[in-house]
Amino acid sequence: MNPSHFLLRFYLLFVIGSGLLACDKAPVQESIVDDPHSYARPEEARVQHLSLDLSVDFDKGVLAGTATLELARAQGAKQVILDTRGLDIQQVWISNDGQAMIPATHRLGPTDSIMGATLAVELSPNTRFVRIAYATEPGAEALQFLPPALTSGSQPFLLTQSQAILARTWIPIQDSPGIRFTYDAKVRVPKGLMALMSAENPVARREDGVYTFKMSQPVPAYLLALAVGDIEFAPLGPRSGVYAEPSVLEAAKYELAEVEEMIDIAEALYGPYRWERYDVIILPPSFPFGGMENPRLTFATPTILAGDRSLVSLIAHELAHSWSGNLVTNATWNDFWLNEGFTVYFEYRIMEGLKGRGYSEMLAHLSYQDLLEEVADIGPDHADTHLALQLEGRNPDDGMTSIAYDKGYYFLRRIEETVGREAFDAFLRSYFDRYAFKTMTTTGFLQILDQELLQKHPEAAETVQIDAWVYGPGIPDQAPVAQSTRFDLVEDAVAAWIVGVSPTDLKTEEWSSHEWIHFIRSLPDSIGTEKMAALDAAFAFTRSTNSEVQARWYARAIREQYTEAYPAIRRFLTRVGRRKFLTPLYRALIETGQRDLALDIYREARSHYHPISVQSIDELLDWPV
Ligand code: BES
Ligand code: ZN
Repeated sequence: MNPSHFLLRFYLLFVIGSGLLACDKAPVQESIVDDPHSYARPEEARVQHLSLDLSVDFDKGVLAGTATLELARAQGAKQVILDTRGLDIQQVWISNDGQAMIPATHRLGPTDSIMGATLAVELSPNTRFVRIAYATEPGAEALQFLPPALTSGSQPFLLTQSQAILARTWIPIQDSPGIRFTYDAKVRVPKGLMALMSAENPVARREDGVYTFKMSQPVPAYLLALAVGDIEFAPLGPRSGVYAEPSVLEAAKYELAEVEEMIDIAEALYGPYRWERYDVIILPPSFPFGGMENPRLTFATPTILAGDRSLVSLIAHELAHSWSGNLVTNATWNDFWLNEGFTVYFEYRIMEGLKGRGYSEMLAHLSYQDLLEEVADIGPDHADTHLALQLEGRNPDDGMTSIAYDKGYYFLRRIEETVGREAFDAFLRSYFDRYAFKTMTTTGFLQILDQELLQKHPEAAETVQIDAWVYGPGIPDQAPVAQSTRFDLVEDAVAAWIVGVSPTDLKTEEWSSHEWIHFIRSLPDSIGTEKMAALDAAFAFTRSTNSEVQARWYARAIREQYTEAYPAIRRFLTRVGRRKFLTPLYRALIETGQRDLALDIYREARSHYHPISVQSIDELLDWPV
């Protein structure tokens, strides 16, 4: 994207003294960026605080209750515009003081399949509160109601996923990453279940099933989250802990034992952790993502419970978002790389602190392979391989590719290697500090980078090729190269195996799952089922309990039509709903003429997946809906 064009695409609105009613709770936002994925007009009226009062109905699969919004508004503003999608709006009130509620005139606009519909509420001259009574629709895309059979116990479960623009499918809200608000909530759940949110959380069940929450740091709507189920808590450290279903809790506690140390490492790198507690909830396997950085409470897939702590970099990633993303937030989904690229960079730095450079370089190397595959997949000249995206009119989900993550990472690493780590770390530390609880655009970041870092390192400004990284396609020249001696040994092993050394004679005793992943990835194409069987006999890949190894081996098994693995693949696909694992497997089935098998497995698995994964796989398989 052309930078000057991008500048035109957003406008800064400086809020001057009397412009917005000053509120003593949160500082009035200084600038508001136009977000193509929200109908909100925050320059007129902006949500500052949300109070939720919701009941969770597992029988109907809906949430119902009220959302009360406290507004900051420009003088003379006649309405507030909210984002909704599929909500059943029952009644709307306005109020000057939050007490006396008066029925209000409101209008629901036409529905766009991606953006949803505006809810416009008319304001009186002194209105400061709007209350909406509503219910979600069954099948709301943010929500998954799980029957007991799909959990690890005998109770149902509810989980939400609001990023990118799905908060509006369960709360009428200004659903833009540039609009932050504090919140509190009262949530009623069936007796015996526990409720948790991205807020101050309980550690024990409440007899009456009524839970109250408070979130005193302002957050954007995509970080609103709720989980309800048969959940227990175990502490990990003074300010960290883990929640899980009782039968999973011990394994979760073991796997996450390093979390407190990760927080210490992160703080030593880039400044204080600003959210008081850091807890993780291990969700049922249908959770559509690996992890989600809901503030104070990371949501995580149980597929990281490998039993050997080998997949905990995912937690380092979600923890890192407590700075990159949750503190300094991408202004729009076009700037998604500011959230994810910084977070991958920070994730590897935490892992380097925890396990050493040799370890983090394996992660960086795997990330480069992901990037190569993604660029080949999207097309090396395609605009979707730019860091600065143009997602207007599209589903922001389209931007959730390795580009934001891995190209973002390599861009930052390129800067680090050019100016030196010390200067780069100092820059990042002050960046997180200065822009804490604010939003950031790509152009804004580049300006800060220039002023605060590159002008002090003129030679770097020349060599980094910023425009090529941010506004250009593919992988720019002189991308940094990860140095992994451990992976060199893996490649030696593959080479030896190719020339006939028996698998059992390869020196693999010390390998972690990362080496195994690299091993599977480095195998030549089309080795045939006989060789697949020989590798399987030696290394038991099909029976692996490491989800990353399983996902890679199963993709290859499908391409080789190594049918011995098919029962295990079916089990995996019907149990796990993590989209990153599903898509490559279903795609491999289709691309190798095994569409009938794909449909047969999906018929069984579809009802186990979260609506987010269902949407992607429906599309991939042309599933009739
Ligand atoms: N914030 C993302 C998940 C996300 C992004 C959800 C965009 C919806 C829209 C989260 O931090 C993430 O990146 N998760 C990754 C794991 C990570 C280790 C790369 C995932 O779920 O795979
Ligand atoms: Zn992330």
